Amino acid sequence: MKGNILQISLKSGVLAVAMLGLASVAMAQETSLGNPAIGSKVFKKCKACHKIGNGAKNGVGPALTGVIGRLAGSAPGYKYGASMKAAGADGMVWTQELVSQYLENPTNYLRDYLGDPKAKAKMKVKVKKEFDRANVAAYLATFSTN
Ligand code: HEC
Repeated sequence: MKGNILQISLKSGVLAVAMLGLASVAMAQETSLGNPAIGSKVFKKCKACHKIGNGAKNGVGPALTGVIGRLAGSAPGYKYGASMKAAGADGMVWTQELVSQYLENPTNYLRDYLGDPKAKAKMKVKVKKEFDRANVAAYLATFSTN
């Protein structure tokens, strides 16, 4: 009898561990891909400076149509800051992951990327929550073909 109970509790323990493992894989995917529908709401914060979509024009910030998969600092006709131009000249291409990192603190991002403690971003806005950053990056990606 005792042996049986031990066996059952061992088995459910193994099952619980296996389920935890599955849950953490699912959560990791959720945060790295983001949810574009939620991201479209986050994008309201960006609209004061950025337009996106067919024929979107540069404003205070560059047009973001196709920004995922695009070389940093390369929207035609937009005057970027020197640090963003340097990142582009170095071949930095925006991915969802990089945009999400950039949004946390644009100046720190460029300082780290360029290894230059004096680098500066022209964009002063920061997005604190990782959840918002991942989702807005996923939203931007819906305007990219690659
Ligand atoms: C107050 C204005 C302002 C707001 C609000 C703003 N940005 Fe920006 N953004 C800029 C400026 C200015 C630049 C150009 C940065 C530079 O040249 O250093 C920029 C650059 C960028 C870039 C790089 C584009 C490229 O072509 O390399 C991305 C991506 C970006 N912003 C995303 C966002 C997102 C997403 C939001 C909303 C969460 C946002 N921005 C909110 C002003 C803003």
